[in-house]
Amino acid sequence: MITINNIFGQHCARFRIVLMVLLVGIVSACGDGNNEASNQPILIKFPHVTAPGTPKGLTADHFKAVVEERLAGRVTVEVYPSGQLMNDDDSIDALAFGEVQMIAVSLSKLDRLTKRYQVFDLPFLFPDLDAAERFQAGPARDTLLTAMVESGLRGLAFWHNGMKQFGGPLAMTSPEAADGLKFRIMESDVLQEQILQMGGNPQKMAFGEVYQALQTGAVDAQENTWANIYSSKFFEVQEYLTESNHGYLGYLVAVNETFWQGLPADIRAELEQIVAEVSAWGNAQAKDVNDGALANIVASGRSEIAQLSDAQYQVWAEKMRPVWDKFAADIGADMIEAAQAAGRP
Ligand code: LMR
Repeated sequence: MITINNIFGQHCARFRIVLMVLLVGIVSACGDGNNEASNQPILIKFPHVTAPGTPKGLTADHFKAVVEERLAGRVTVEVYPSGQLMNDDDSIDALAFGEVQMIAVSLSKLDRLTKRYQVFDLPFLFPDLDAAERFQAGPARDTLLTAMVESGLRGLAFWHNGMKQFGGPLAMTSPEAADGLKFRIMESDVLQEQILQMGGNPQKMAFGEVYQALQTGAVDAQENTWANIYSSKFFEVQEYLTESNHGYLGYLVAVNETFWQGLPADIRAELEQIVAEVSAWGNAQAKDVNDGALANIVASGRSEIAQLSDAQYQVWAEKMRPVWDKFAADIGADMIEAAQAAGRP
């Protein structure tokens, strides 16, 4: 599939964003792009990159089932899991151009469109999913959901995956263990700085390439949730996994703005309601899905699992503070303070 990424390469992000804004304007001027007028069901194409059994995979499939029951004959949802249609970076462009109508990409991957989302990548900020959820439900919610409307993306909800864990050739019970290791990271400048602070060598890479990169030694280490480490079999090619819970991995569920505004009002209202219900359903079970994945990894006996003591966790958190300092001005002190407050019991 030809996307702006293929045409212009990774290095023209600024140009791509300008082009995206222009084309979103043109698409908007050309009508609403939905099929109701022709008596065909409205189609929502929804690509994502994780396996069906992950928190996102389960929730996307549940969304399809509920929509096709409650809006039978009026809306159809096609879910494409496991990156079978496109990777996340391409899906952001495809959504802006209306090639697909809905995505759920990791919050980390939106930092090329807005700096505000960088808050989610600050290491050791959210202690658990509940803290992230309180922050997402708080005063910052609307600012975050509407931060990319000009680029053609409207946020509808936040979905959890889980807390991130480190994996590599040794237990990462102290930051020094990461020294010199090549780390696969998501496409995020904050995560890049996190790995540099650890003395590692960060490599931004699409999710679908990670297993092979670990297998061939193109990278030594990675960070991800138990659900992703298990379902994408990273545990088979990592000697040690460290239960570090050092960062949050969640998603923005976003729709194409022109598509959304062009929907008949009753359908848009029903979809909004369904997204809210389905998000609560998925977020309530994300922790259990991750716990189940960890249990499966332990049972496989394929990698050693290391834990951090409270003291080791504190050492890690201190060492990562310069990452916060570097991005504080871009993210905004108000946003960081609100996120910290959400983590206090
Ligand atoms: C990753 O690239 O590691 C994650 O964003 C994948 C995902 O969607 O959970």
